[in-house]
Amino acid sequence: MSSSPPLRGVSQTLLWTLYLRAVDARSLRPVLGDPWAQRVLDQVDVDERRLALLQGDTRTIVTRGRELDRWTQEFLDAHPDGQVVSLACGLDSRVLRVRRPPTSTWTDVDLPDVVDLRRRVYDLPDDVRTIAASATDPSLWDDVPDDRPTLVVAEGLLMYLEPAAVRGLLDRLAARRAPGEVCFDAVGRWVLPLSRVLGVVARDDVRFRWSAGSARTLVRAHPGLVVRDDVPLTPMVAREAVPGPVGRVLAASTSLSPLASAMRLVRLGFGTTSPSAT
Ligand SMILES: C[S@@+](CC[C@H](N)C(=O)[O-])C[C@H]1O[C@@H](n2cnc3c(N)ncnc32)[C@H](O)[C@@H]1O
Repeated sequence: MSSSPPLRGVSQTLLWTLYLRAVDARSLRPVLGDPWAQRVLDQVDVDERRLALLQGDTRTIVTRGRELDRWTQEFLDAHPDGQVVSLACGLDSRVLRVRRPPTSTWTDVDLPDVVDLRRRVYDLPDDVRTIAASATDPSLWDDVPDDRPTLVVAEGLLMYLEPAAVRGLLDRLAARRAPGEVCFDAVGRWVLPLSRVLGVVARDDVRFRWSAGSARTLVRAHPGLVVRDDVPLTPMVAREAVPGPVGRVLAASTSLSPLASAMRLVRLGFGTTSPSAT
């Protein structure tokens, strides 16, 4: 068990997602099956009883992780010379879960207290760069070359940022020259007020601050970005959780309900040409 000081504020949320990946990994039929989650969880100071309240979100969180792994893999397969910037990496093992071509580069970014802990619990390959910085710090991008295809992946981050900070981040990406993509999850507008009163977000005094309607509204506000994908997560989770026609009906009815917009997975393209077009 790590002797690091306990994580506070938004940093502690990485324990929620780590815990749920471990719950999934030890289940009979894992969705993500993260082979690192349990052994990393075992190294950090966490009271699993406090986190058990989250278990109902397991499928949503690990399906989100699996889909973002898939998009990351697609990018690396299409761009073996590409660079991946993983914002708010927390204690996630995406860098180990995907197949990285030797000509690609990978940069993990998170806040200093998290990077400190990450360095203690993972023994990552030397070619993985880890930067202790805020994802909203414009100077972060001085360190990210603008001459190679770039994937920015931000899982479980944007909802914790101020809307102006998200706009700033998306504007900086929209202005990049090299082709790239940004992939992230976004909570729906109605989730924001609920998160203030319900569940672990409210209990642990962490605030959701940013939400999105649809990817189309986002790109309208950020010329230079194009929609590649906009996938409501809940119907996908419903369809996979219940096999056969019942699952399909459940997914279809979920798609028509407000639940469909609870969380979406968004992939936006930027740069002179979208990577998939090159
Ligand atoms: C819900 S956790 C997600 C962690 C990881 N992506 C995962 O899926 O397990 C949120 C993460 O965002 C990080 N974070 C919050 N604000 C940040 C910021 N301004 N810059 C970089 N990371 C930030 C936290 O430290 C935490 O690791």
